[in-house]
Parts: sequence; structure tokens; C-alpha cells
Amino acid sequence: MTTPLNAPPYSDGENLKSIILQLLTEVRTTLPVKVIEVTNDGEVSPIGRLSIQPLVGQLSAAWSVLPHGIIYDVPYLRIQGGANAVIIDPQVGDIGIAAFCDRDISIVKATGTGGGPGSLRRHDLSDAVYLGTIMGGAPAQYIQFSPKGINIVSPAEVSITAPKISSKGEWAHTGSITVSDDVVASGISKVTHQHGGVARGGAITSPPAAGVAGNNASFAAGLPAGMVL
Ligand SMILES: [Fe+2]
Repeated sequence: MTTPLNAPPYSDGENLKSIILQLLTEVRTTLPVKVIEVTNDGEVSPIGRLSIQPLVGQLSAAWSVLPHGIIYDVPYLRIQGGANAVIIDPQVGDIGIAAFCDRDISIVKATGTGGGPGSLRRHDLSDAVYLGTIMGGAPAQYIQFSPKGINIVSPAEVSITAPKISSKGEWAHTGSITVSDDVVASGISKVTHQHGGVARGGAITSPPAAGVAGNNASFAAGLPAGMVL
């Protein structure tokens, strides 16, 4: 009768390996998790906190799967430096990756400053930090960088707010444009420009005709001296 490879008596090496593996089960590094709750909703606000559910359960001695509990008060990664940020808050149902710090980070979470560990626990699920989404469907709202260029797409609205907005290049726009103040083209105000050589009257002009220049230089060259359209 042959002895199975993993049957006792175990060698010292096998026993040591077993002890090490058992100890390593206490060392949490990263796990895929599901976002259960989010304090933020994408608005302009400080980085919030999550509740997350680890998606890989534990194995019992009988090889049955024991799901982990929910981990609360988990900080998440945002691309932010000082007052500059890209705000993409996690959403309920997201599948992402969480890292587990090697010391208790509860004091840092509570105070935002350094200090000692909140307890002697190490590599614990309670000290999770959510790093971001790792599995997801096609987005409906996105900034896309591709070999063809950059796409900014929203099914709702793209809003740009700044005291001054500059751009360079040809603009091609589909749809109407509404301006609350004025439009100045080549130094000519849309609102305040005047037309010379016409007498005031009750009539109104015809609509603009395609291909007929207003202050076009070649057109203006054929006008009487001093006349401005
Ligand atoms: Fe005009």
C-alpha cells in the first residue's frame, strides 16, 4: 500500500510551510470588491467614503464559502492635487479593487493627519482603501482619448465655466448658438455695428443671402468711398 503524498506524518518542512501559509491567510493585500454605499454623488465636494463588499469569500475547513461582511467608512482614490481634481465618484454596484493597508489607518481617516496606528491590527480588511473600478460596461458619459482625437461626450450637458475661455483652430458647430452679450467678428460688433449709405425708413431688410458679403474686403472695394456695410 502506498502512502498519499499529503498524508501524515508530515516532514518538518511541510509543517513549516503549513504554518507559514496559515499565517499568510491573515495578511490581506488586495481584493475585488463591490460598492454598496457611497456618501458622494459626483457633486463638487470633498472625497467621501464607501461601504464595500469583498467579492472573494473565505473557505472553511469543509471548503464551503463564507462571504465577508461589509467594510464601512472606506476612503477612495480620486485624482486630486490641492484644489484641482477630476471628480468621478464611485457608484453603487461598481466592481473595483481595494487595497488593505498594513497598519490601522483609523486615526488618519478620523483626523486627516499622521499619528500612531489606531490599534495593533495588521493587513486587516478594516483598513481598506478603494482604488477604482476594474470591471464595468461601456460608459455613456466619458472623455475618450483615441488615435482619432479626443471625444467629450455627455447625454445631458457639457458645461465650461471660467472668467476667460480661449481656443485656437477652426470651429465647426451643429445646432444653434445663443449668446447673452455680443459677438465680435474681425473687430465688428454683432450688436452695435452700423450700415452706411442707407436712409432710415419703416421697411426692414430681407434676410441675409448666402454668399453676399457684409464687410468683406472685396465687396467693400466696390462701394463708394467711405461707405461701410
Ligand atoms: Fe448688419
